[in-house]
Amino acid sequence: MDKSLRKAVIAGNWKMNKTPDEAKAIIEAMKPLVAGADCDVVLCVPYVDIFAAQQAAAGSNIQIGAENCHWAESGAFTGEVSAPMLKAIGVQYVIIGHSERRQYFGETDETVNKRVRAALDSGLTVILCVGELLDQRKKGITMEVVRSQVKVALGGVSADEMKQIIIAYEPVWAIGTGETATAEQANEVNHAIREVIGELYNADVAAATTIQYGGSMNAKNAAELVAQVDVDGGLIGGASLKAEDFSVIVKAASV
Ligand code: PGA
Repeated sequence: MDKSLRKAVIAGNWKMNKTPDEAKAIIEAMKPLVAGADCDVVLCVPYVDIFAAQQAAAGSNIQIGAENCHWAESGAFTGEVSAPMLKAIGVQYVIIGHSERRQYFGETDETVNKRVRAALDSGLTVILCVGELLDQRKKGITMEVVRSQVKVALGGVSADEMKQIIIAYEPVWAIGTGETATAEQANEVNHAIREVIGELYNADVAAATTIQYGGSMNAKNAAELVAQVDVDGGLIGGASLKAEDFSVIVKAASV
């Protein structure tokens, strides 16, 4: 399968880290290090950092995204932020279905699907996260779990809208643990995800969809992971908080 049919995307997921001033400082440090990268570079940051991050990233190749959005356009949902609100402030990317949202905030495949739908309706590009728990991997049901997560999350998404979908395969046991999936494990699941997309849509959509790996990707292991035929970049947590480390990952995806 030809990797040139799709874009490699290196996206940072800052989670609940950094104040606006700290965000500015990191992005200022990153800008010269990632300039000229041959992959898309995105930083998904806490809502309160978005404005400062956009200002700091202006004129560079770093794009700013959010870490979640609600499925309603507006309404009585205290503490939530809608997709049209993100669009209105110039955000293009949004992470949906991160395992921390699923684990700690009650997200289900169904609510993930509703949020995906809302993001697409606002013209946002979605970074859709899927991945198995350690227990599920031990039971040998990784493929079933991930296939089902992908299918439910993409319910009602058209072939044309798949241009706005990036999938991030993030095995939950590898997130923030320092334990990375092997390049073979990452490629195997990413390949299975591409097969599901082929079944849901067609071979062209499958070949054109960016499928990242995420889970303790860092400056040391990124090159081997992103070199895999079905791994089109990464979703990076901890290492995206360090300008130097993040830039090494961006360069690894640029070759
Ligand atoms: P990590 O996080 O790189 O710190 O493991 C990845 C993620 O949660 O997206």
